[in-house]
Amino acid sequence: MDNVWISEAAPAKVNLALHLRRRRADGYHDLETIFAFTDFADTLQGRASDRLVLSVEGEFASPAGQGADNLVLRAASALREATGVRAGAELRLEKRIPVAAGLGGGSADAAATLRLLNRLWRLDWPSARLETIAATLGADVAACVRSHSCLGLGRGETLADWPQSVSGTPVLLVNPRVPVPTGPVFKAWDQIDLGGIDKAAPIAALRNDMTAAAIGIAPVIGDVLAALAEGQGVSLARMSGSGATCLALYTYDAARDDAALRLAHQGWWLAATRLR
Ligand code: C5P
Repeated sequence: MDNVWISEAAPAKVNLALHLRRRRADGYHDLETIFAFTDFADTLQGRASDRLVLSVEGEFASPAGQGADNLVLRAASALREATGVRAGAELRLEKRIPVAAGLGGGSADAAATLRLLNRLWRLDWPSARLETIAATLGADVAACVRSHSCLGLGRGETLADWPQSVSGTPVLLVNPRVPVPTGPVFKAWDQIDLGGIDKAAPIAALRNDMTAAAIGIAPVIGDVLAALAEGQGVSLARMSGSGATCLALYTYDAARDDAALRLAHQGWWLAATRLR
């Protein structure tokens, strides 16, 4: 029984909106964001072991490298420390989410680690308790523990309900294969506060305030957004997080699939999926 592998999906995170409010004295930024999650995911598997070990495979295993390793193993160590559990785990990560892409891949993996070990070690912690550990690992790890749409406040680690339902919405993720590190995009922000998120506002009326700064660093993001805005049935085209991945929402699956076909020759990374 204890040799059995158990599995947790690590859904890719998107920001349907991201409003920057101010740069804080500690160097971080206060923001308001709508987190949402997709059926497109990394997969984490684990089984009982005396040691804590991780192997990474999949399309983005190599760029993930030590970074992803560290966040999974750091999550495991943080949980072990918080619980006093002595057990280990053998972990296998299938890395499909592009790295440094605005899709929270590393955060999703860390959150999946907490959920998986919560089961494997029979801790039976409620999600809210896992979220407190998650918040020490990165700004969007707590949202990834939930992995359903919600509002992120503060640095993104304070979560609140977002009263709209987007579950099942067809979405296309497009990454021009340019890694964009988060820190420099925050630094390049013009520091103009354009206001917070009105929970009742349609998503299309909201913004990603990091877009101009990210395009300054990786101009191809502007091309991706322009390409996504064209075509039938598209209700929103927006950058996710600090880029470079952009997302488009569609009113029906065939519109998303047409857009994917239209962009297939670009050499960009594409994932046609749905919001959870
Ligand atoms: O929390 P995380 O490690 O994902 O953040 C990566 C970097 O992004 C931070 O080191 C910081 O420079 C920047 N950041 C920020 N304000 C936030 C979140 C992240 O300035 N709210």
